Amino acid sequence: MTRDIHVLPTLEQLSVHAAEAVARIINSAVTAQGRCSLALAGGQTPRDLYRVLAENYRDAVRWPQVHVFWGDERLVPAGDARRNDRMAREMLLRHVPCPESQIHPMASNAMSDDLAARDYEDTMRRYFGSGRPRFDLVLLGLGVEGHTASVFPNSSALDEREHWVCAVTVPADPPARLTLTLQVFSQAANVFFLVSGAEKRRALRTALDDGTNPRACPAAGVKPIDGRMAWWVDADAAEDHIMKHTDDNDIHKGAVEGTDRDPVVPINPIGAVFEDSEVANADEQGHTSDAPRDEVETLGERNGRS
Ligand code: 6PG
Repeated sequence: MTRDIHVLPTLEQLSVHAAEAVARIINSAVTAQGRCSLALAGGQTPRDLYRVLAENYRDAVRWPQVHVFWGDERLVPAGDARRNDRMAREMLLRHVPCPESQIHPMASNAMSDDLAARDYEDTMRRYFGSGRPRFDLVLLGLGVEGHTASVFPNSSALDEREHWVCAVTVPADPPARLTLTLQVFSQAANVFFLVSGAEKRRALRTALDDGTNPRACPAAGVKPIDGRMAWWVDADAAEDHIMKHTDDNDIHKGAVEGTDRDPVVPINPIGAVFEDSEVANADEQGHTSDAPRDEVETLGERNGRS
């Protein structure tokens, strides 16, 4: 697994740079395979990214070949403001030429939770066939207590080995959710985590720690088997002594040609980019050391964000 961490000064800049990387991955996948599978995240953090994609990449991305899925969904009525698909449609999908037949929302609360999970797995199997579900790109968020998608600490979804999609009850509003499993996310060719805000610092530090038990911090259990993972983090979420963004944040707006077969090449200069082994103990100059850090076994109480 290759892991890059991009620290940007603000959520806005994070979104601009992540959007460029998303565009490159989509176009690369379409060039290589004729289509691209994209799993979207819910929550607030990706709103800006979706907006930037809609505004700046309407024509530069090969949307007609993109197939859109979701990593998780809230089991509330279709159109409910809490639905992840509603947010994604409002911010992105209604503004780009992605065919409706290639947009695959999860079910609403109109069918039983378990049936809804099987229904979505069928949808995924129709796309991926009998092989493994290998998304070209999965977008994920991070909860303050370490959840990702709707896999919360100690979730039954952590034990699921057979199915790709689980119906779960989570300690957040709304509690009834569908989520893809960590195994599915770990099969992806590219995984992007989007993390913003000081309240995420502790969860981020824990998620990045190789010793973390995914039961306590599910985000730590997403480990691409033969893919790449990139963390897109704003300065508020980054701990100063671990990650410090540089002042050199010129945006390199390279052409999005879709000919680059190498996924997620860090785009420079965009702030600090740490390779995997450098992350844990990098000082302000980006130097690393083997000095021990405090162990974080579990995360504290949720603060209400989900
Ligand atoms: C959801 C999500 C969830 C989200 C995190 C972070 O449906 O709520 O998919 O996993 O990504 O809770 O949410 P924020 O971006 O709002 O902090």
